[in-house]
Amino acid sequence: TGKFTFDPGFTSTASCESALTFIDGDEGILLHRGYNIEQLSEQSSFMEVSYLLLNGELPSKAELDDFSYTISRHTMLHEQLATFYKGFRRDAHPMAIMCGVVGALSAFYHDSTDIADPEHRKISSHRLIAKMPTIAAMAYKYSIGQPFLYPDNDLSYTGNFLRMTFGVPAENYEVNPVIERAMDRIFILHADHEQNASTSTVRLAGSSGANPFACIAAGIACLWGPAHGGANEAALNMLREIGTPDRIPHYIERAKDKNDPFRLMGFGHRVYKNYDPRATVMRKTVREIMAELKVNDPVFEVALQLEEMALNDPYFIEKKLFPNVDFYSGIILSAIGFPTEMFTVLFALSRTVGWVAQWNEMISDPAQKIGRPRQLYTGPTARDYVPLTAR
Ligand code: CMC
Repeated sequence: TGKFTFDPGFTSTASCESALTFIDGDEGILLHRGYNIEQLSEQSSFMEVSYLLLNGELPSKAELDDFSYTISRHTMLHEQLATFYKGFRRDAHPMAIMCGVVGALSAFYHDSTDIADPEHRKISSHRLIAKMPTIAAMAYKYSIGQPFLYPDNDLSYTGNFLRMTFGVPAENYEVNPVIERAMDRIFILHADHEQNASTSTVRLAGSSGANPFACIAAGIACLWGPAHGGANEAALNMLREIGTPDRIPHYIERAKDKNDPFRLMGFGHRVYKNYDPRATVMRKTVREIMAELKVNDPVFEVALQLEEMALNDPYFIEKKLFPNVDFYSGIILSAIGFPTEMFTVLFALSRTVGWVAQWNEMISDPAQKIGRPRQLYTGPTARDYVPLTAR
């Protein structure tokens, strides 16, 4: 009609103003509230980055202690939710369980859902950040038939999650500090990434004033797809399928073939047309974890060689396709002991911070309106109804 801009996939439409995260895709730069991701992942903690994203500034020691304490007070799930899990099949994908359980939180926590009240929004945000590790660990425990473990608030956010996932009631679980640090770093690397598909989904769902827990469930649904958060699972499955370096050229040729739907998973990005800075940190962390756990997973060698071959191939050079955050993360998560189905769940756990921070930013913006894209209509023009007997 000429009245609207046609922009499928929103490649050139800014949907909001935001002060949270800055990406320069050409230079490969990612900043949260002005701090670059390399410094945050090396020197900060997931709790501190969560505070930063939610509040805009790094916390003082007292503020961080207070924030961590508040989060730890919300780690338990309503006991009835344990029953809710039992309605799922044991072989359900844990992301299916995540969509259901997080959506179901909206049926449990009624005292923090007046979204016009900043205090309510704060409590809902804290609840979501605090409960995600418990929900994720329970999804895992349910799938392997082990009992759920209650949170242990004497442990760190990440240490508690590792214990709830890998601990059993019969034994004392010792948190390995190297694994705890690597896991915390993975959480930091996934915490926020401006207006990606799932964050935009959370904002769109929230723009109608919907219940915050339901909005985050919508984000989880969107994240599940292999073009988004599901890529970490798909990337490791691909590396395992390739198996040995001699098979790499075949897969590179397949990725280049326009008649083959196959893509190199963990490669390419809508915004980064340079190395994803998160992938650099991930690659370094793989080495640390493999040394600590004394594992030598052959997929790491496949990944390194695949990266090198792709980065020297004219197709990938011309299209500016580089490894993204998901290319190496699966190797670390697998070495720690997570099955591939859990990878996207871990992404959801960490991205919850970004989702709630973005949701809060949107609701507090006086210019906020319900999201309502337009379309270019391509269907038939007006025509008369034909009675069934005449068809
Ligand atoms: N392997 C082979 N070719 C690719 C790949 C790939 N991984 N990614 C993009 N291309 C090609 C694509 O075929 C297209 O070629 P042409 O212009 O000839 O049609 C060109 O590069 C541009 O791709 P696009 O699909 O138009 O770009 P997009 O911005 O819509 O898609 C993407 C971005 C991330 C969905 C895509 O690169 C992809 O599917 N990558 C694999 C999945 C993946 O790793 N996703 C994780 C993204 S980072 C974490 C997250 O956000 O969750």
